[in-house]
Amino acid sequence: MALLDAKKAAFEPLFVKINADAQKIGCEAMESLFQHQPDTKSHFTYMDVTPGSQDLKTHGGKIINALNDALNHYGNLRRTWPHCGSYTPTS
Ligand code: HEM
Repeated sequence: MALLDAKKAAFEPLFVKINADAQKIGCEAMESLFQHQPDTKSHFTYMDVTPGSQDLKTHGGKIINALNDALNHYGNLRRTWPHCGSYTPTS
């Protein structure tokens, strides 16, 4: 568990910064996904995927919040994120 705690501690300062601007950074992450993997746009046909759109900001913010939630439950993802399948941090 000590290694997991150390990893969590290493990520925390980064996530404090990211969370302070969740929608902007999440939007940029989605723009990057669409730029580098254009086929992924097909999952989001009902959204305005124009760079900087309110849809991308809203959805991007949700993704950042989800990652933060995962960090807060690091080492216990299966119980707190049952939908995350077989992923289990090993070290
Ligand atoms: C780090 C990676 C990812 C995280 C943390 C993440 C997180 C999430 C979360 C939390 C939601 C629920 C949003 C809500 O409640 O409205 C969601 C929905 C969704 N995600 Fe992801 N996601 C990731 C990657 C992806 C990728 C790579 C794709 C497809 C290329 C994708 C496609 C979708 C779609 C289509 C939805 C449904 C959106 C909606 O109906 O509003 N996600 N994701």
